[in-house]
Amino acid sequence: MTMMHNPSAEKPDYGNWVSTKLLLISGLLSVLFAALSFLLPILAIGAVFFGLWFAYFLYARHQFSPTGGNVQARIHDMVLDTLDRLDWDGVGTVLDIGCGNAPLAIQVAQKYPGARVTGIDLWGMGWDYSKAACEENAEVAGVADRMTFQKASAADIPFEDGSFDVAVSNFVFHEVSDAKDKREVIREALRVVKKGGHFAFQDLFLVEALYGDVDDLLETIKGWGIAEVAFVDTSSSDFIPIVLKLPFMVGKIGIIYGTK
Ligand SMILES: C[S@@+](CC[C@H](N)C(=O)[O-])C[C@H]1O[C@@H](n2cnc3c(N)ncnc32)[C@H](O)[C@@H]1O
Repeated sequence: MTMMHNPSAEKPDYGNWVSTKLLLISGLLSVLFAALSFLLPILAIGAVFFGLWFAYFLYARHQFSPTGGNVQARIHDMVLDTLDRLDWDGVGTVLDIGCGNAPLAIQVAQKYPGARVTGIDLWGMGWDYSKAACEENAEVAGVADRMTFQKASAADIPFEDGSFDVAVSNFVFHEVSDAKDKREVIREALRVVKKGGHFAFQDLFLVEALYGDVDDLLETIKGWGIAEVAFVDTSSSDFIPIVLKLPFMVGKIGIIYGTK
């Protein structure tokens, strides 16, 4: 179904990695524990615990937001900047894996007028993201004629081997619950890139429990027949506030990029 363009929407709505749902749950639990602590005072500990979580997530949401620290957009920019390092002429097909509300996919389409961009995502999970929002955002951004969106899992991408000139992904692979081995998510992403095509994936690649040692990961990727692969540690970027550098937030991010 084609979305109607809403002219009252001035800017795309890319949402926030700290979802409304997450804030509501921590806030409601705090209130619930506070109320129950009148019956059982020990439960006040729970009220304080969830209250602190609520305050933390509220602050994190503000930092990620364009009206706060704009950290989310600046993290996307690092993936876009990485594409500049690759020998790509900007013409061809691009896949954004786990596109969310399509911030990265849309910026790729805006930056490269010769690119056709596909975004896939499972949507309907913990975030306030949807296919309809992607289509609306693409309209608002003026690139809808070169974009398509499809519901699909990163663990089983519904495209033939070598379908895309470029694949990108931002902050998704660690979330792919239908793949126990997160290295296999990278492998699946690379499968759909053409020989000689390019890729730039940002994720929690410095979390060893997910991906193992990063040098070993790069060797493994080369072993899959990938011509060039490199890693950049983006976790130490100055614009990321210290409180967001916790390992379960964006404290362990990096970009794996290269040429197949
Ligand atoms: C932190 S959000 C990042 C969204 C977007 N890439 C961005 O940078 O704003 C994680 C995204 O991963 C998606 N996701 C989680 N598991 C997935 C899967 N198995 N396949 C595709 N997308 C998935 C979620 O729906 C969500 O949109």
